[in-house]
Amino acid sequence: MVWDFYQGKTLFVTGGTGFIGTTLLHRLLSQSSPEHVYVLCRGGAEKAKAKWNDMLPTSIAATLTRSERMTILDGELGNTATMDLEDDVLQMLKQTVHIVIHAASSIHLRMSLRELSYSVTAPTLCLTQYALKFPHLERFVFVSTAYANAHLWKTNESADVAVNERVYPLNGESQDDYETAVRAWHEVQKNGSSEEYDAHDFPWPYAYSKHLAERLILHKAAEKKALHRVLIIRPSVVGPADNLPYPGFAVPYATPSTACAAAYTLHPGRQIVLSSRCQNPNKEATIDEVPVDVVVDRMLAHTAAGTSGIVHAVSGEKGRLSLEDWWWAFKKERRLPWNAKPVWTSEDWNSPNLHPLARFFKIIGTSFAFSDEKTIRLAETLSSEKGEKLNLFADRSQPYSLAARRHHIHQVAVQTAKKKKMPGFFVSLFCRKGKSLTHVNDTTKV
Ligand SMILES: NC(=O)c1ccc[n+]([C@@H]2O[C@H](COP(=O)([O-])OP(=O)(O)OC[C@H]3O[C@@H](n4cnc5c(N)ncnc54)[C@H](OP(=O)(O)O)[C@@H]3O)[C@@H](O)[C@H]2O)c1
Repeated sequence: MVWDFYQGKTLFVTGGTGFIGTTLLHRLLSQSSPEHVYVLCRGGAEKAKAKWNDMLPTSIAATLTRSERMTILDGELGNTATMDLEDDVLQMLKQTVHIVIHAASSIHLRMSLRELSYSVTAPTLCLTQYALKFPHLERFVFVSTAYANAHLWKTNESADVAVNERVYPLNGESQDDYETAVRAWHEVQKNGSSEEYDAHDFPWPYAYSKHLAERLILHKAAEKKALHRVLIIRPSVVGPADNLPYPGFAVPYATPSTACAAAYTLHPGRQIVLSSRCQNPNKEATIDEVPVDVVVDRMLAHTAAGTSGIVHAVSGEKGRLSLEDWWWAFKKERRLPWNAKPVWTSEDWNSPNLHPLARFFKIIGTSFAFSDEKTIRLAETLSSEKGEKLNLFADRSQPYSLAARRHHIHQVAVQTAKKKKMPGFFVSLFCRKGKSLTHVNDTTKV
C-alpha cells in the first residue's frame, strides 16, 4: 500500500541534500515509481550531485545522481514564494505537483529568532501559501522537531514530561491558537521576538521558530479548508540509519549526539557538569535518538496512509536511551588517559556553571516521553499487508553503541579543535580514529 501510493505521483521536495532529505529521496526512488520528483537545491544539480557523491557510496548515490525521474531545481527558500525559480517553473510545479515535502531548514541552534524568521518561518509560510494553491495537491508535509515543545520541561514538574502528537498552545488552551500565532509572527517580524516567546523558556530560538511555523501552517490550511492535507512530522534527535540507505548512514553535523560525543571527547577534565531535576539523572534522564530511516519511513507511510496533523518520528518510551546507556557507549569512544564522568547539579539549564555543551544543548538531563500512538496504530494496520518492509521503530535489539560512528566523531572533533584553537595533539590524545562507513559500503570504489 505505501509504495503503491507514490506510483505516478509528482512530488516537490525541499532539503533533499540534507541528512533526512537524502535518505528520503533514496528510499522513495528505490522503492517506488513516482511520475517525477522535483528537488529544490541551492546551487542546482551540480551541487546536489556533489553532496550526494560525497556522503554516499557511489553505488548508492547513483540511485539519486542517475535517476531520470528526478529534476534538481536551482533555487533557494526565502521570504517570497518564488524560491528564485523562473515563472514557467513555478507554473509547472503548481499544475503538476501532488505532494510537497518541506524538509529544508536551518538547524543552527545558535541562530537568533530574527535570523530564523528569514530561514525557517517566512520560507515555510510562503511555501505553504503557494502549495495550498496547487489544484492537485494531496499532501503537504512539513518537517518540524519534537523539541518544538521542549519548553514544557519548564512548565511541568514531572521528571519525565509527556508530549503528545498535538500543538501545545502558549497562551492558554482557551485562546484561538491560530490567531495568536499570526499575532506572534507579526511581533517577531517587527521586534525580533514575541510576547509568548519571552514568556516561555524554549531551549533555543530554533525550537520556538518550529512551534510557530507549525501553527502558521495549520492556520493557513484551516483558512483554505485543507487541514486534512497537512502532515507535520516531528523527529527527535536524528541518528544514524538502522538499515537504509545502509546501516550506519549519517551526516555528522546533522547528527546531534555525534556532535555531543565529539565535544565531550575533547573535554580535558575528569568531570562534566550537567543539569537535571531528576532524582537519579543517570537512570532517569533520557535521550530520544531516532534512526534517520525510521524518520523517513514514518513520513512516507503516514503520507501514504493519509494521516493528517502531527506525527512524532521518535524512538518513544520503548526505544529511548537512559543517560547512563549513552554515557556507557561514549566512554568507549574516549581514549585514555582518563575518563570524564557526568556530575549533576540542580541548577537551571541556562546556568553558566554547566559544561558549555550542556548549556548549548540544554535538553541533556531532561526526559521527554514523546507519544507515538499514531505510528503504533498505523503499524497495526500495515502488519496485515504483505511485503511492507518498513522501518517504523528503532531497532534496540543490540546494546547501544557509538562505535560505528567513530570516524564521524573524530571528524567533528578535528573541526571543533580547530575552531577552538586547541593544540593539535588533543584530538589524537582523546579521540579514537574510525573507518569511514561510506567507503566500507562502497562496492564500486577500488
Ligand atoms: N538532524 C536532526 O537531528 C533533526 C532533528 C529534528 C528535526 N530536524 C529537521 O529535519 C529537517 C531536515 O534536517 P536535516 O537533519 O536533514 O538537516 P541538514 O542535513 O542540515 O539539511 C538541511 C537541508 O535544508 C536545505 N536548506 C537549508 N536552508 C535552505 C534554504 N534557505 N533554501 C533551500 N534549502 C535550504 C539544505 O540545503 P543545502 O544543501 O543547500 O545546505 C539541506 O538540504 C529540518 O527541518 C530540521 O529542522 C532535524
